Amino acid sequence: MSSKADKSLEKKCIRSFTEYCKKFGYKPFARQKEFHDSRAKYRLFGGAAGPGKTKALLYDAIYQAHLHPGVDTLLLRRTFPELESSLITYFRRDVPRDLYEKYNEAKHIVTWLNGSTTRFAYCDTETDVYRYQGAEYLFIGVDELTHFTLKQWQFLTSRNRCRIKGAKPCMAGATNPGNIGHAWVKALWVDRAPAPGMDRPDQYDAGDYEFIHATIADNPYFAKDDEYKKTLGQLPEALRRAFLDGEWDVYAGQYFDIFSAARHTIRAEQVQLEPWTPRWISIDWGFEHPSAVYWFATRADGVVVTYREFVQNRLSPRMLAAAIAERSVDRLGRMERIRDVFLSPDAFAQRTADASIAEQLSDGLSAAGLPRAVPADNDRVGGWMLMYQALEADHWLIAENCTRLIENLPTLTRDPANVEDTLKCDGDDPADSARYGLKSALEPGRAPAEVLAAERITAVDPTSRAIWLKKFSAEESRRVAPVVPRRWRPQGW
Ligand SMILES: Nc1ncnc2c1ncn2[C@@H]1O[C@H](COP(=O)(O)OP(=O)(O)OP(=O)(O)O)[C@@H](O)[C@H]1O
Ligand SMILES: [Mg+2]
Repeated sequence: MSSKADKSLEKKCIRSFTEYCKKFGYKPFARQKEFHDSRAKYRLFGGAAGPGKTKALLYDAIYQAHLHPGVDTLLLRRTFPELESSLITYFRRDVPRDLYEKYNEAKHIVTWLNGSTTRFAYCDTETDVYRYQGAEYLFIGVDELTHFTLKQWQFLTSRNRCRIKGAKPCMAGATNPGNIGHAWVKALWVDRAPAPGMDRPDQYDAGDYEFIHATIADNPYFAKDDEYKKTLGQLPEALRRAFLDGEWDVYAGQYFDIFSAARHTIRAEQVQLEPWTPRWISIDWGFEHPSAVYWFATRADGVVVTYREFVQNRLSPRMLAAAIAERSVDRLGRMERIRDVFLSPDAFAQRTADASIAEQLSDGLSAAGLPRAVPADNDRVGGWMLMYQALEADHWLIAENCTRLIENLPTLTRDPANVEDTLKCDGDDPADSARYGLKSALEPGRAPAEVLAAERITAVDPTSRAIWLKKFSAEESRRVAPVVPRRWRPQGW
């Protein structure tokens, strides 16, 4: 670019935040202004639902893009539909057309009059973040930051740089408390401490971080909206405190404080199970509340993988059985060899007709060639403990497509009345189902049959290993088969 062009773009930059607000017709609320004024390298606008976090993040990106000519800024959300319904919608609705050069619909990139850009982007899977490798951004804003992992945030910090003299690269997040990133976000900004899972905790500098806490009262429109406040007021306790007051301690006493998406999740394409890999299913039955179904397998190295999820409400037992059967096929369309189906014990007591929910569901499953359901082990304390131990020992991985479970685990809190148990709350069906699946199939303190088999089998060629593994697993599972009342025993036990 010629220096003449440089100069003309330079002239289109904006010198002060006041001038910027005037030009863009943006009137930040007091708490938004506090967020924009902060000079911290990493800012977090966190708290309740509705104080104007997303809007402030968008206007911060636009402001940063106008400080220097030809710089790039990036705004992220976890999925494209979320991105489109929030940041992109606000941009289209609120930014006058004459204030930007062009908007590339396919790439979702706005080019401003001074040659700078703002890119709207998303990261569906954890590794999508690497799409931005090679790029450099003066500003990176992440909306709903707790939907992201620490690993993603850390990678993005490496893209936050600018070659222009005097430019000050910075990043910001906007978020409600809760979700998979709750623990690391809270640690860095709220507790001002290194986050669990950080490679170099000694490198953490609290001075780089500033937390701007917002409640519903910070948006004057919502503060006066009694109907909206009433709706939030009717939410379950933890959500109400998080969304109405923006409280970060509602998830204090987080049960799975050890859970890290980076460490405990795996991409669906990496799961790679052999046809003979032992598999089983867990079901937490629900009608108004969703039924949560998980598929499990033990890999040859002994690691249990939860590889498929199905969560849906208002399905009859027979419809649920059909939905499970339809999904119990491998990539080649072959029926998977499911060894057991563990179902929430209450489904054996509940009846909608002459038959119990469990009987109706089992009839549907067996008609489709799957085992009949047996009552899951409902030892809550033992089950949570087993899950914790499995995560701690890296014996349990969850495929990234099990999104509801991955979101649910970090939000479970200890029950103050019984700290060994978790507090029951709406929306914990995925975790309950996973607990049934692990607790019913694995014995606490004892490795699953397949782990023992994998340890004892010395053959290295895959065919011999498979034959030995099958033989050993069959012997072991006969030896340690869970004790199930005779009338519930499926055929062949
Ligand atoms: N400064 C402002 N002036 C006028 N309207 C605003 C302002 N800031 C936010 N709003 C409006 O208030 C509403 C809520 O804002 P926004 O979506 O940014 O809040 P949020 O904190 O991100 O909410 P959530 O927690 O639901 O994501 C939106 O309709 C937005 O356009
Ligand atoms: Mg928002």
